[in-house]
Amino acid sequence: MALNNLRQVLNDEAAPVVIGGMVLDINATPSAVANPRTTTPGKVVYALGGVARNVAECMSKLGAKPFMISAVGFDLAGSLLLEHWESDGLSVAGIQRKQDIETAVICHIFDGKGEVAAGVASVEAIEKFLTPEWIHNFKFNICSAPILMVDANLSPAALVACCKMAAECQTSVWFEPVSVTKSKRVASILKYITFTSPNEDELVAMANALSSGDKFLPIQRDCGSVQLSVDSLFQALKPAIWVLLEKGIRVVIVTLGADGLFLCFKHTHGVDKCDLIKNRRSSFSRKLYEAINVSCPPGRILGAPNPKGGYYVAIHFPSLSASVVRLTGAGDCLVGGAVASICAGLDIMQSLAVGIASAKGAVETETNVPAEYELTKISDDAGSVYSGAKVIFCGSKL
Ligand SMILES: Nc1ncnc2c1ncn2[C@@H]1O[C@H](COP(=O)(O)OP(=O)(O)OP(=O)(O)O)[C@@H](O)[C@H]1O
Ligand SMILES: *[C@@H]1O[C@H](CO)[C@@H](O)[C@H](O)[C@H]1NC(C)=O
Repeated sequence: MALNNLRQVLNDEAAPVVIGGMVLDINATPSAVANPRTTTPGKVVYALGGVARNVAECMSKLGAKPFMISAVGFDLAGSLLLEHWESDGLSVAGIQRKQDIETAVICHIFDGKGEVAAGVASVEAIEKFLTPEWIHNFKFNICSAPILMVDANLSPAALVACCKMAAECQTSVWFEPVSVTKSKRVASILKYITFTSPNEDELVAMANALSSGDKFLPIQRDCGSVQLSVDSLFQALKPAIWVLLEKGIRVVIVTLGADGLFLCFKHTHGVDKCDLIKNRRSSFSRKLYEAINVSCPPGRILGAPNPKGGYYVAIHFPSLSASVVRLTGAGDCLVGGAVASICAGLDIMQSLAVGIASAKGAVETETNVPAEYELTKISDDAGSVYSGAKVIFCGSKL
């Protein structure tokens, strides 16, 4: 009994920490073309969302027990979000709850094609209440965590505060840029970031925020019917990726929607093996480690590393074909799957294969995160992504 309690404490202490938004999404889909100035019949569903919350929920579905730091109120949205968290057996100790907090809510109205036609976001509470002071209460958790995942919903001051706490005890930081506008917050925490996971547009915004003048232009994906090949896409994104790596971010992961992603890093200090990550425990997710280490054998993509290191590598990972129900949550589950895998002891390439397998689950469900993941499915899917991954660049300068 006492021993079990102790184990519980030790496990909690080494939990990965996730800081950022918990949001209630209200998604309205009219059954016919919506008429202005009146209501239209249709479906209105609640979905639990928020980038950080989605990432953490995805991690927990893969066997990790993330420690979430966020803020919600005593309103309906806050109750729905918290109830779900507790019923998943996750700690709510880091989630601030106060009378005067209006829980973040985002309302989307979709058009007939599943694209957002209009939306209203009420998310001030995250910046207002997720303060450096609140986050400071959990310095101990941040210090013992293998990794800290922050989303760009935090205020710049809160971002700096939690990154500094992580840096003091060598906890690696994963920065998820959330949106084109918020991704620019990268500038204040640049030197603390180990991993970042922008999509193409966020990458361009981040590169612009880190250099003078808006040098980088959004990538034109399809010129008429001609689709960019993976190689020309990489050529187009390369200068922006280079800025992020040159400025010190260790690992840049650019998500490409149905085209998968690019993993780019400088091959040095065991970055590929995630050797910089401390306190990695395979206890909570040994099963994940064992299954993936078989379906995605380590070393297959890069082969034996050049011992001198110091060269840059870019690897393309394909996505899996999916029967798309709703695209929301894909990027978040990609991060959740990858972070859970890194914490389980897998290397960055194995971890991204799991991330892509997790993202497939997300696009195939209405909710942001699937109700459950089946380990054999994840492991098979990760295996096919992994075997399709290819080195597209290797050299001294991108
Ligand atoms: N249509 C799709 N089919 C299969 N997989 C997909 C599809 N769209 C996205 N994915 C998977 O999800 C990952 C992340 O998607 P995307 O690049 O759209 O991220 P994002 O823009 O951050 O997503 P989000 O819309 O959730 O914010 C991709 O790398 C891919 O593996
Ligand atoms: C992971 O797989 C590799 C080779 O496929 C093997 O050498 C290694 O021992 C495995 N790791 C563990 C901890 O089982």
